[in-house]
Amino acid sequence: MSKSPPRDRARFFVLDGVDGCGKSTLAARLCGELERAGRAQPLHLREPGSTKAGEAIRAVALGKQYELAPAVEALLMAAARRQMLDELVAPALAAGRDVVCERFHPSTWAYQGVAGAVGEKRVVELLKRWANEPAPDLVLILDAPVEVALARRGGAERDRIEAKGRAFHERVAAAYRRFAEEKPFGGRVAAIDASLPTERVAAQVWEAVRGIL
Ligand SMILES: Nc1ncnc2c1ncn2[C@@H]1O[C@H](COP(=O)(O)OP(=O)(O)OP(=O)(O)O)[C@@H](O)[C@H]1O
Ligand SMILES: [Mg+2]
Repeated sequence: MSKSPPRDRARFFVLDGVDGCGKSTLAARLCGELERAGRAQPLHLREPGSTKAGEAIRAVALGKQYELAPAVEALLMAAARRQMLDELVAPALAAGRDVVCERFHPSTWAYQGVAGAVGEKRVVELLKRWANEPAPDLVLILDAPVEVALARRGGAERDRIEAKGRAFHERVAAAYRRFAEEKPFGGRVAAIDASLPTERVAAQVWEAVRGIL
């Protein structure tokens, strides 16, 4: 018996990676490619947020006016994710629309679990219990060196987590690489070399996506 889903089923894609690696750029391009391939218009989401409640949680989780322990950040991310899965992802998939989401479990695992020292196992337990359904069909980890990604973002305003400094972001980048190898939540995970020009990154993304359509 094949584990592959039927061809007509809508798919849930996640693009994740360090700040400035190209998530928003590649997510928009992937949505365009999926439509050109004849699929229904995909739903493009970002985390934390995308729902009204999730955007309010985002303002608390990332706002510079709050001081939050990484464990509290993880709990807020899980809450925003649960809301998004119930309110947006599940209905879109049920209606036959693919979902392309910027950030998901790998962000929580890398930023809070590893770099923030909440602990990988605690993050996996939390998210598997509270925010794991529907699960992504394919997780794409955009891997780019921290200095390349930060340079791409230029002098853009930093939120509270982005402002944590270079050493923190190096730990995050290393964690993402390990995520792609260890796949702590199971499922399909593909590492993409995001240091290349956009066209070549997009080609790698499409190749991985096409493999599961
Ligand atoms: N492969 C690439 N090569 C060169 N520049 C790129 C590439 N991908 C994206 N960029 C540019 O880098 C900048 C950051 O990209 P983008 O906003 O897509 O990243 P992001 O991962 O969504 O960032 P953030 O974490 O801040 O939301 C943009 O100006 C974008 O045009
Ligand atoms: Mg972005």
